[in-house]
Amino acid sequence: MTDTLTLRSPDDWHLHLRDGAMLRAVAPETARHFARAIIMPNLVPPVVTGAQAAAYRERILAALPDGTSFQPLMTLYLTEDTNPDDLAKAHADGLIMAVKLYPAGATTNSASGVADFDKVRPVLERMAEIGCPLCVHGEVVDSDVDIFDREAVFIDRVLDPIRRATPDLRVVMEHITTKQGVDYAAEGGASLGATITTHHLVINRNHILAGGIKPHYYCLPVAKREEHRLALRKAATSGDPSYFLGTDSAPHTDANKLLPCGCAGCFTATNTLSILAEVFEQDNALDKLEAFTSLNGPRFYGLPANTDTITLTKGDPVKYPDQIETTDGPVTVFDPMMPLHWRVTT
Ligand code: DOR
Ligand code: ZN
Repeated sequence: MTDTLTLRSPDDWHLHLRDGAMLRAVAPETARHFARAIIMPNLVPPVVTGAQAAAYRERILAALPDGTSFQPLMTLYLTEDTNPDDLAKAHADGLIMAVKLYPAGATTNSASGVADFDKVRPVLERMAEIGCPLCVHGEVVDSDVDIFDREAVFIDRVLDPIRRATPDLRVVMEHITTKQGVDYAAEGGASLGATITTHHLVINRNHILAGGIKPHYYCLPVAKREEHRLALRKAATSGDPSYFLGTDSAPHTDANKLLPCGCAGCFTATNTLSILAEVFEQDNALDKLEAFTSLNGPRFYGLPANTDTITLTKGDPVKYPDQIETTDGPVTVFDPMMPLHWRVTT
């Protein structure tokens, strides 16, 4: 029986670190085990210039314990006013790794996102020219589209037309949650990748809604039917280079989750690697875990895989804290509803 597992150090290709007190509380949780992460720009106000990205990067580094080697890979928040020259300069100067597209109103702090996709066409063309990837929150926001259908409809109505119009644009479908997302990513070739979160491998929509509402399982895109979760498991554990880990770990204080209109987001930074090892072991795919956490992402982004390693060891169930403390209040750690036997030992 395998009871230790050594992997190239993992990267998180989709992470929310926030700012201020929350940043100081959550950044060490990711930096403990991950070498690099793509940092989401949906701060208030959003990160829209290279200078803001550089300043945010400094705040992240300052939030880490001394001696931590963690590389934040910064992104810009795409708006209808984003200037292609400014974006190209930020990319050429090495200040940003990618650009994030939020459809306006789709999720947390997305009000400055894109409502009219034609308006960002020149920016997307420029990104294709310079090889800057676009990370996409793939949900339509139309009130007449059922929330459980919004990802599939986005692929047909928005993503596919963008990719046809700009075939050289490198695109990451962020946090896919459906079989349609899995299938679309599989057919997209080397210019298309998809991140999958830890929590979408574990929960389906029943976990949010059956037997009482569970605000800590509410995130966007919302978890779908079981058949979709199974499609995500199959994709993540396949080793296919189209799929890589983007945790979308998205901390909100409990006070902000447990409201009549609570915030979307699951906070998984603390226990993600233990959960993933358990999931991959359940699917007899521990040999594919490294591809998902450590190899496929760098390959898509054109970066070398990390050379250092981490080791996971299997033993008695690991107890993680139910919450982490911040000076703004506690943040609940995602409950995977199963014992976790793998812990990071080095
Ligand atoms: O659940 C989510 N939380 N989905 C997102 O797209 C945004 C994120 C956040 O920033 O809280
Ligand atoms: Zn996110």
